[in-house]
Amino acid sequence: MKKRGHIPSQRSAEDLEVIYEELLHVKAAAHLSTSVRKELAAVLVFESHAKAGTVLFSQGDKGTSWYIIWKGSVNVITHGKGLVTTLHEGEDFGQLALLNDAPRAATIILREDNCHFLRVDKHDFIRILKDVEANTVRLEEHGKSVLVLERSEGEETGGAANNSKYTVMSGTPEKILEHLLDTVKLDSNGNDAIDPCVSDFLLTHKLFMPSSQLCRALQHHYNSKLFEGSDQEKANYVLTTKQKVVKLIGQWVTLYGLLLKEDSIAMDSLERLKKEVAVDYRLTSMLKDQFRDRRRPKVLENGYQSLSRNQQFDWFSNCEEPVGRLQPIRAQDKVLYEIYRPDYRPLTLMLPVSASVQEVMSATVQPGGDHVLVKMNSSGERAQLKLDASAVFTAMGLNERLFVCSSSQVDQLTPLKEQQGPEQGTLDVLEQMGSKDIASELTNYDWELFTAMHEVELVYYIFGRHKFHGAITANLERFVRRFNEVQYWVVTELCLCEDLMKRAMLLKKFIKIAAVLKEQKNLNSFFAVMFGLSNSAVHRLYKTWERIPSKIKRIYCAYERLMDPSRNHRAYRLAVAKLSPPYIPFMPLLLKDMTFINEGNPNYVDKLVNFEKVRMIAKTVKIVRGCRSQPYVPSSPQRGLADRMFLEGPSNRISTCKKLHPPT
Ligand code: CMP
Repeated sequence: MKKRGHIPSQRSAEDLEVIYEELLHVKAAAHLSTSVRKELAAVLVFESHAKAGTVLFSQGDKGTSWYIIWKGSVNVITHGKGLVTTLHEGEDFGQLALLNDAPRAATIILREDNCHFLRVDKHDFIRILKDVEANTVRLEEHGKSVLVLERSEGEETGGAANNSKYTVMSGTPEKILEHLLDTVKLDSNGNDAIDPCVSDFLLTHKLFMPSSQLCRALQHHYNSKLFEGSDQEKANYVLTTKQKVVKLIGQWVTLYGLLLKEDSIAMDSLERLKKEVAVDYRLTSMLKDQFRDRRRPKVLENGYQSLSRNQQFDWFSNCEEPVGRLQPIRAQDKVLYEIYRPDYRPLTLMLPVSASVQEVMSATVQPGGDHVLVKMNSSGERAQLKLDASAVFTAMGLNERLFVCSSSQVDQLTPLKEQQGPEQGTLDVLEQMGSKDIASELTNYDWELFTAMHEVELVYYIFGRHKFHGAITANLERFVRRFNEVQYWVVTELCLCEDLMKRAMLLKKFIKIAAVLKEQKNLNSFFAVMFGLSNSAVHRLYKTWERIPSKIKRIYCAYERLMDPSRNHRAYRLAVAKLSPPYIPFMPLLLKDMTFINEGNPNYVDKLVNFEKVRMIAKTVKIVRGCRSQPYVPSSPQRGLADRMFLEGPSNRISTCKKLHPPT
């Protein structure tokens, strides 16, 4: 083969035929189609090197070609790890840098004398192999797979020269991180959006790489050195690697915001690194650029904007709490726990929102007794809480109460009177308010709840909070709870209204409220009101429904169709796809989708992190990000009355009516 048409442009038809035939026996080309192999035959360049130890290219170099080993073998060497694997005849290398537009991920050194390669230059590689499907790259280290990448087309190419890219399918956490650092772009050209793969990794890292391990790995990369090359090359390598690590940490901070401050391990590491970064202007100036777009200039009292130029370097200088009346709940925030004893006397105490059952017990009873903590709902269903369960407060369902008693007393506990819900509705108040005002109040408050929730809470919630050290899901749970509150408020008000005429008016009003909520793109409360209206306790009020004008009934029926769960909630999905942000999605469905993904896919495949699953979960998280990507401008209806109803004590007014519909 070597003798045949050494220069591609001089190959005859016969040369091409022979090269094509030979390619049939090359492992790296075996999966390729006839036409691809034919095209390759026309452009392959033969390259040979005489001496073992020759460096074909070095880690960090720009990628220019893809290689197939025709004869001999090469060593794959990475910084910090040394020799990670050896590649033999028929195997290929050098494709990663080409498709991901990244520097070489390893150094390739000849392992023996007289090695021959088939080389395909970058533009040919991209042209010919662009459309090859199912192109999987499996990287090994010491005989074990460490990273599996797959060619993907499309949206998330992140600036690659062509339209396809290798995306991570699975890998060890360390190797995935290494790959992400390799592909970090330092010359962002003003586009500082976080690479989707980086944000997917950072959102879920705690699942497979605790903060301690992540920090250690980042520190290791930050300090990595180049052992060969000129002084200039060494200095360049060290700086580039540090910049990449700092950029990735900057993205970590951006993604988590002030929530990261609750991660003491991450904070220790960031503090340590801060000292080193702060004294290197090349790193701080890069971070300033990275944060520039997000920085909202602060207006000083004298009207000038503070540019915070001379401000001391701080990772969090650009993080802000959401603006609004409602602040996010933090793990250490204390809340009022109301715990009942068997004699129904309440004990009130302030404990952290994330308090465990153990902590609640030690604060309420003397150690040593056979006490248990029980939660009971309004229909008397009791659940004994496990000692190691945490976040007792936010895990409480609507109208549930906590009781502490000895195990023998559990069976005698009965619900409190207040758990039965109100005996009278608030029709008089509702009559004084327009549907639009009520809907606006609901939406304004929902937005506060929705924005107080951090997107990572979705990940914690789906995989189980206990799997993530120190994680809380209180803000998400508060928002989810809101759905039930609104739903049962509708049912309760309607069922407590005894006058038929007035009840019909109220029913009409709720349909109108649903209409406004939909118009306001508050799908969560829209569905909550609709669920309330379709509750059997309301649905069976035939006489009331008869009094609803047919025009309004038609609107209601159209809305009911949106709730149709058939074909995987197709009606809703089609409607929501047309919405532009800001909007509030139907949260229970989003959580259901995520649960489905979680239950249907393993976390690990062949002992490697199943990153494809991570990407699927992150895709749903991004829906929430998309919904909130534009600021919501609250409407300001008549304040006061509505505030009292919906903001100050929702669970007092919005509650379940036990006899008709026990809480779910
Ligand atoms: P590329 O990054 O273009 O250049 C170095 C090549 O080494 C890389 O593409 C892969 O094809 C190959 N390689 C094989 N095993 C590994 C490994 N464990 N880590 C990094 N690169 C590897």
